[in-house]
Amino acid sequence: MTEPTQQTATRLVHGGRRREWRGKLVNVPPERTSTILFDNLADMRSSYAPADGRYRYGRDGTASQWALSEALTELEPGAAGTRLFPSGAAAVAMALTSVLQPGDDLLMVDSVYGPSRHFCDGELKRLGVTTRYYPPGLSSDELRALVTSQTRALFLESPGSLTFEVQDVPGLASAAHELGLVTLLDNSWATSLFFPAIANGIDLSITACTKYIGGHSDVMLGAVTASTDRFDALDKVVRQWGVAVSPDDAWLALRGLRTLDVRLRRHEANGLAVAGWLAEHPRVARVLHPALQTCPGHEFFTRDFSGASGLFSIVLNATATERDTVIDALQLFGLGYSWGGFESLVCPVQLKGIRTVADPLEGSAIRLHIGLEDPADLIADLDRALARI
Ligand SMILES: Cc1ncc(COP(=O)(O)O)c(C=O)c1O
Repeated sequence: MTEPTQQTATRLVHGGRRREWRGKLVNVPPERTSTILFDNLADMRSSYAPADGRYRYGRDGTASQWALSEALTELEPGAAGTRLFPSGAAAVAMALTSVLQPGDDLLMVDSVYGPSRHFCDGELKRLGVTTRYYPPGLSSDELRALVTSQTRALFLESPGSLTFEVQDVPGLASAAHELGLVTLLDNSWATSLFFPAIANGIDLSITACTKYIGGHSDVMLGAVTASTDRFDALDKVVRQWGVAVSPDDAWLALRGLRTLDVRLRRHEANGLAVAGWLAEHPRVARVLHPALQTCPGHEFFTRDFSGASGLFSIVLNATATERDTVIDALQLFGLGYSWGGFESLVCPVQLKGIRTVADPLEGSAIRLHIGLEDPADLIADLDRALARI
């Protein structure tokens, strides 16, 4: 266990490395099991209540999952604990499930990740929960005007998916608490390293560990880190729904977490180099990168975040067909979903069906994930591709 006074880079390296879990090894090894064998009945009975660090049954985890959970909790000052999920999408769904009941009203940001929206409009609706979408630029006063006696929770994602609007998370969270709402944030873009969500007033901080925590495009995993008020409800939902993640996946994610600081800072530097070059290109109308002034909510990014990751979008001065020509001409950028791995990726931005408050893009847009390649090579690749139109 690390000390809260230690710097984040230190907590990233030492978090969750309890001697009783790793023995003499540097790393906690993957522990695969279903059954745990007890010494005798007294031993079995003493482990009756499940808890991290208490070997009980495979579904309750082993050191592989506990070490990752503990390391993630230690990154979030003020957090009570973390629960793991088989994907980021499952983490979003379960975090919401731990808060909402039939009849409740949820305020959801319009720029939320598409599948999170589909969960609200599908499963939550089926369970009798109403979802209302609000614009990412919502102010605290506007939030107060939206809340009714049924409103139970405020969900934020900052920056937003595909369009990267940065929200006033501390301001909205503080107003939400005054109004008695539970706050949830999809924090996958910045991670707890660049934005410690619990310390900024969030109750449930959600991370798609598939992205930067794993960091190598070889694992699907999600995590929810909870405040003291919300941890027990989250834990209960996880156990009652029987959610369990593989020890191998937890082990891979923990391995990725150890180098998050160096990787993320390189993603940031490379991303800024590429974004800066694109901002000057005549075929680029706008760069939607939170660290650039052209991005909505840039002032909140400057105030609240200690760094940027490598994911952003650009709007082209081009038709949709020309946009597709650029994408197909790229050689170093892989064409595929997801992001957060060591490699650069590209995908077209499609907002149809996943924005209801407003479509903030007036052109053909592309999302880029800037990997750990030399940015000069990435710029040369983009230059070649843009010259095709
Ligand atoms: C912002 C955001 N949240 C959550 C997810 C879901 O994560 P996963 O792919 O692990 O389900 C994604 C995936 O792209 C995402 O971009």
